Amino acid sequence: MAVNYDETTGIFTIQTEKSSYQMQVDRFGVLLHLYYGGRVNGPMDYLLTFADRGFSGNLYDAGEDRTYSLDALPQEYPCQGTGDFRSTCLVMENFDGTISCDLRYKSHRISDGKYKLPGLPAVYAQEDEAQTLEICLEDQASGLEAVLLYGVLPKYDVITRSVRFVNRGEKPVVLRRASTACLDFLGGEYDLLRFYGRHAMERNLERAPISHGVTSIGSRRGASSHQYNPFMIVAEKGTGEDFGRCYGMSFVYSGNFKGEAELDQYGQTRIVLGLQDELFAYRLKNGEEFYAPEVILSYSGQGLAPLSQNFHKVIRHNLCRGTFKESPRPILVNNWEATYLDFTGEKICEIARQAAELGIEMLVLDDGWFGKRDSDSVSLGDWVVNEKKLGGPLSAIADKVNAMGLKFGLWVEPEMISEDSDLYRAHPDWAMVIPGRKPVRSRQQLVLDFSREEVVDYIYDSLCRVLDHANVEYLKWDMNRSIIDVYSALAGRQSQGEVLYKYTLGLYRFLDRLGRRYPQMLIEGCCGGGGRFDAGMLYYGPQIWCSDNTDAIDRIRIQYGTSFGYPVSSMGSHVSAVPNHQTGRSVSFKTRGAVAMAGSFGYELELGKLTPEEKEEVKAQVRAYKRHWRLIQDGNYYRLSDPFAPDGLGAWEFASEDGKEALVTVVTLNTHGNPLTSYVRLKGLNPDGWYQEESEGRMYQGSALMEGGIPVPYSTDEYQTWQLYLRLRGENI
Ligand code: GLA
Repeated sequence: MAVNYDETTGIFTIQTEKSSYQMQVDRFGVLLHLYYGGRVNGPMDYLLTFADRGFSGNLYDAGEDRTYSLDALPQEYPCQGTGDFRSTCLVMENFDGTISCDLRYKSHRISDGKYKLPGLPAVYAQEDEAQTLEICLEDQASGLEAVLLYGVLPKYDVITRSVRFVNRGEKPVVLRRASTACLDFLGGEYDLLRFYGRHAMERNLERAPISHGVTSIGSRRGASSHQYNPFMIVAEKGTGEDFGRCYGMSFVYSGNFKGEAELDQYGQTRIVLGLQDELFAYRLKNGEEFYAPEVILSYSGQGLAPLSQNFHKVIRHNLCRGTFKESPRPILVNNWEATYLDFTGEKICEIARQAAELGIEMLVLDDGWFGKRDSDSVSLGDWVVNEKKLGGPLSAIADKVNAMGLKFGLWVEPEMISEDSDLYRAHPDWAMVIPGRKPVRSRQQLVLDFSREEVVDYIYDSLCRVLDHANVEYLKWDMNRSIIDVYSALAGRQSQGEVLYKYTLGLYRFLDRLGRRYPQMLIEGCCGGGGRFDAGMLYYGPQIWCSDNTDAIDRIRIQYGTSFGYPVSSMGSHVSAVPNHQTGRSVSFKTRGAVAMAGSFGYELELGKLTPEEKEEVKAQVRAYKRHWRLIQDGNYYRLSDPFAPDGLGAWEFASEDGKEALVTVVTLNTHGNPLTSYVRLKGLNPDGWYQEESEGRMYQGSALMEGGIPVPYSTDEYQTWQLYLRLRGENI
């Protein structure tokens, strides 16, 4: 049993293969958090200490006991109004405008399988693969129930959390803050690892000690954002890739979020993750429900590499869905960086012809195929094929591409509207614009009000009209601006604080319908590259365009940061032209290919301009990717270097679960006179085995490669790539 409740002590214990999680219903019915960490087999309530602490108030029920304070005790779901002055999970406004809530234990239920969340993405599992624990807490004064949901997937060391709120009271209440998960640590020194960035430079790793005060990351942009990813790691000081205790938290949601880390006055650490409370206020009348989106938690006692691998596995096997979840994704060529908006149907077919000769498997027609879209300031919302530009219907292009042996894919940006569009002229109120104010434009476009069902339905129908009439086997779903003017014409005065949450639900409803109507279609998420790279989107499509930055060297860092929380199969990654369009940097074809292969692989350049030698390289890369596909997708991924370090390398490895083969890639990032020798230590091999390196045939011993490492060959040029493919030849030979 993964979940156990001991009635005599009131302790809930959740066990995964290598971790334990404990909570206790105490004598006042408060749900205290006792422990989360390496596996333990006994009660942990002895860890709690009580002291009379000034200015930390005492629960009324504690009577004259001045040592019982929720300002100091570790809690499972802290709320505003009980004397806990740290960041809390729940802030509730009562019908009379007062802000207070006091959640106490009411009941619980343990069941097989994993709970589901209506309308929201969530980890799923077979009945025998997971267990669910529901703990119902209630606020007696208002009648609000908060049902804490825990899904336990023991084999990945994963625990998921969510909360279902139900108003059982007569009077309405307003959720002003409804975070999903809290982790309280009694002592210790922790670092917060967060993934910050900007457009075309997403998910840089920043690691800093959690210190007094509150460190907060998040998004108020309507999407999870380029600026902070809704994934964070809390690691004990000194934790490295292979040693130390660390915890990961991934928010399965694609809209606004907030993550907080706080070292409190008593040296205790609190982490909270969930919905952003700014721009949020959700009203619940009698009988109404609200779900806080899911957080995936995982623990590793052996450092960051296994922690990341836990997330890779659960996302790949129990979050992503559909035909392409675990099967090879077609190697694609996208026309965006080749043509931008300036193309004809003939040009697209020419790219496809070139691609077919090189072994590429799919042509993706990017932005510009609809309405009057020859500039990026028009026609969003008018999902009607521009037959004049394409020289015929979309189906004709798709058929021609198919006849060449390639699949056909298409770009869309359904959540947006251009002011210069037939849709805007017909329904100006469908755009999010605050009455009496001028909207803020971004890329000359406005956002459609996806919190309204009729808007979602209309765009859905118009896209289906396109998709039903052409053989589209892949869809790139883009979103190219942030949401600023938060307003819905349908929501009343009291419900404007619900608009962004309902917008995200509208997006999910759309994607869900699309997935069910076209189950064979591969969906790739995109938001100006990686501005909505989150576990929520991965529920609807197994890959996301990782960044609009296709420069191989920047991509090494972007993909490195992304790899902490997401599998390589989720990262769309393409070889593009040099000088690179975003950075002006020129890097060899080999290096560009090697970096793009650490993802869902493709090309994004004018294939017709390649030299005969480069074309041969494309063919070789396509062959190599197909050959190693299983190892890259299913193998354990290891970061072998820190590419942010001043003299760092880009180095990563895929090792099969059984340790029988490994693919190592090293890219030099610097060059110096009289260079030093760099070494990389391999991982995930069989220590007793002997491995043969393919290109030179040399034999290496497994433990030697893992303990002593291997010297990186000298190069007198920067950005050189060295790849090693190793196969186990035998043990102890
Ligand atoms: C975004 C995407 C690009 C491309 C353009 C088209 O920026 O990230 O890949 O599709 O939109 O407008």
